[in-house]
Amino acid sequence: MSETGATPRVYARIAGTGSYLPANVVTNDDLSKVVDTSDEWIASRTGIRQRHVAAEGETTGDLAYHASVRALEAAGVEASELDLIVLGTTTPDLVFPSTACLLQHRLGANGCGAFDVNAACSGFVYALSVADKFIRTGAARTVLVVGAETLTRMVDWSDRATCVLFGDGAGAVVLKADTETGILSTHLHADGGKKELLWNPVGVSVGFKEQEKNAGVRIHMTGNEVFKHAVKALDSVVEETLAENGLDRRAIDWLIPHQANLRIIEATAKRLDLPMDRVVVTVDRHGNTSSGSVPLALDEAVRSGRVERGQLLLLEAFGGGFTWGSALLRY
Ligand code: ACO
Repeated sequence: MSETGATPRVYARIAGTGSYLPANVVTNDDLSKVVDTSDEWIASRTGIRQRHVAAEGETTGDLAYHASVRALEAAGVEASELDLIVLGTTTPDLVFPSTACLLQHRLGANGCGAFDVNAACSGFVYALSVADKFIRTGAARTVLVVGAETLTRMVDWSDRATCVLFGDGAGAVVLKADTETGILSTHLHADGGKKELLWNPVGVSVGFKEQEKNAGVRIHMTGNEVFKHAVKALDSVVEETLAENGLDRRAIDWLIPHQANLRIIEATAKRLDLPMDRVVVTVDRHGNTSSGSVPLALDEAVRSGRVERGQLLLLEAFGGGFTWGSALLRY
């Protein structure tokens, strides 16, 4: 209770961040030896210079584990203190159990709730939104939120239109209940009607064998259409976030966007009237790591000292589904 007798509002506040990239780096020049492409084409169209590729046997759960250990250390939180683990991924280790359950066991966070969220590249923002609601309602006080992917496992390395875009990586945050302002609002959207513009149409219920024969276990994408939809959806969710919080765009200290394509990031920054030196860009170093990309960028900005306590951060993402979303928070 506060001095006035009213119960103070509880926010989900980021107590620590962590990230992890596999050791193996594949540059644009490396790819130009495999498919008909060039560093110049990839860098000018996407901003990507290199990506990290998980070693044989290295899984999404492994990447998630390393990122989570770093986030827990940064937060000064023991795994045994966690009430919940929410993990965004579209490349789980297994069909079941969830990667969150595998992670829970490995961290020693026994007994707490643990589940995956599949929202493709928006997976971390979706997971963050779910965790925020658990904390706001008092159902949890300490939550580990992870975005982790090994997207290169379903890349067709002979398709130059997609193989140059993706990489593997993971990021994590520890959220704690706090009376100081943390996450202010989250906004989630989806449009399943556009699924065929970006998808991997293989799965359990439709039958692996038939689909594998027809399409192969790989990402299919109509890149220029995805590009247009991404820019439009992100514009709209950014406007929605500002309006909901009664904020002028100049209030944002940092834009921490999904790292898919530098041109998409620049379009959102322009909409916000933000100079690029207030936008966190890491896509050049790890390509599109799907759910991993927003927490990877956040962790880098925090550890480099660019993002400081008290600043206002706008996180956003767009991905297959389509799904898109945002989170506005005071760090
Ligand atoms: N190297 C060289 N040439 C290439 C390559 C390559 N790697 N890939 C495609 N091309 C060629 C095409 O074959 C085409 O050639 P043509 O004119 O002879 O037919 C030409 O380049 C232009 O192709 P477009 O697809 O029109 O190129 P575009 O400028 O749209 O760039 C890109 C393609 C980079 C994929 C872009 O559309 C994009 O980034 N879209 C967003 C996709 C995305 O980020 N998806 C990830 C998931 S969703 C998300 O995270 C936002």
